[in-house]
Amino acid sequence: MTTTITAPGLAQRLKTETAEQHARMHRLMEQARPFASRENYARFVAAQYLFQRDVVHLFADPAVKAAVPDLDQRGRDDASLADLADLGASAPQGSIASEGVAMPEALGWLYVSEGSTLGAAFLFKEAQEQLGLTAEFGARNLAAYPEGRANAWRRFVAALDNEHLDPAVHDAVITGASAAYDRFGVLLEEHFELA
Ligand code: HEM
Repeated sequence: MTTTITAPGLAQRLKTETAEQHARMHRLMEQARPFASRENYARFVAAQYLFQRDVVHLFADPAVKAAVPDLDQRGRDDASLADLADLGASAPQGSIASEGVAMPEALGWLYVSEGSTLGAAFLFKEAQEQLGLTAEFGARNLAAYPEGRANAWRRFVAALDNEHLDPAVHDAVITGASAAYDRFGVLLEEHFELA
């Protein structure tokens, strides 16, 4: 019997190699308590808006579009902005943190944003139950894509594991994901004034 050992694909590597950063997001969210009040939640949405703006900024790059063909169905910057308006909060200002980021790092930024739609299912539930928000008012940024979270995620993972993406660039995608997690971490720290 022959055993073939295949190297883990990009999606698997991203999950494994950024697991600690994901765990850090949980810790920051626990400290931040975004569902303690609508006022606190608005701070979360402000952070989400700035992060989504960084991510959507990358959509204009033709190389990113080629890697993820359904980009027009992704991104939650507009949803976050509408949520801020619902909550009576103004849109935060600030420069784009992903300026100059291109493929393959850009794909790592998209990974963090798209992956966060999975965890958002839990956050959406809390926003509904604790704050009375909905997919049409205040919690659009946490709602599922029209086709459902699982379907949108499955197609994104297929884009990550596309055979046309040269394995030589996988490390750079992971570097991009790491930078995106760092950015969200900084935004949470700033907006919730965490130490
Ligand atoms: C307390 C807040 C959070 C909770 C409870 C949470 C929960 C989860 C859960 C349960 C999954 C796995 C879903 C599945 O496999 O079906 C997941 C995946 C993921 N989450 Fe979170 N999450 C949170 C915050 C975040 C934040 C703030 C980010 C990034 C800004 C993030 C990024 C991701 C990514 C990238 C994945 C995909 C992991 C993979 O399968 O490769 N999460 N999250």
